[in-house]
Amino acid sequence: MRRKVVAGNWKMNKGLKDSTALVQEIIQKNNSFNCDVYVAPAFPFLNEVSVVSSSSQIKVLAQNVSSKSNGAFTGEVSVDMLKSINIKSVIIGHSERRMLFGEDDKTLKMKLENCFKNDMEVFFCIGEKLDMREKGMQNDVIENQLENTLFDIDNVNLEKLIIAYEPVWAIGTGVNANSDQVQEIHCHIRKLLNFRYGKESSDLIPIIYGGSLKPDNSRNIFNCSDVDGGLVGGASLNSETFIKIIDSI
Ligand code: 13P
Repeated sequence: MRRKVVAGNWKMNKGLKDSTALVQEIIQKNNSFNCDVYVAPAFPFLNEVSVVSSSSQIKVLAQNVSSKSNGAFTGEVSVDMLKSINIKSVIIGHSERRMLFGEDDKTLKMKLENCFKNDMEVFFCIGEKLDMREKGMQNDVIENQLENTLFDIDNVNLEKLIIAYEPVWAIGTGVNANSDQVQEIHCHIRKLLNFRYGKESSDLIPIIYGGSLKPDNSRNIFNCSDVDGGLVGGASLNSETFIKIIDSI
């Protein structure tokens, strides 16, 4: 059976005190989840959050990582640096990185290769913008996104891969994709994975949904047969709403 995953992407929110307080609250309120739970604080607080959550079920996730190993790359953070503070998972290809920081398929492919080479677990984000959804081209977009990156590399460790479908029009807008839309595209992603990697191996890859997930819509979305969890933005910044979403799986 595929594992279930719920991750909170805190983006550029919460300083040191608030980051450690939030993870402590989550642990105190509920320390027995029926799925894998991750939180992704900002870089400077990964270590502290990791220390605070070390004896809990919560895993700590980085929001980004460099495609380079080391050297003169001002402002970058390497895989080895993350591993040195016991961070083993990272988000790659978030639409905010693609759109606001110019990360193109070539860069994302290099990041993926670097992560798999170094045994990192990857949450790889894909998803279409509103204009493409309106033209009914969402399947073509995600197909291209996968073909130009993930499907074009040989060293993918399928056991360390999670696909996050995040339609750009649903991120931070309060307008989530409805469960029919989510199921339809997750099913398509599953078929693409089956075709590329063979059914047996790829059936174990979780496909999670992100985009305005809230306690009042998560249950419906998580009930879809091809949805294995969620990547939560805004609603993960509060322990109560985040726990409600986790519990709805
Ligand atoms: P929101 O849940 O705030 O829409 O953000 C989703 C997201 O981008 C998670 O990575």
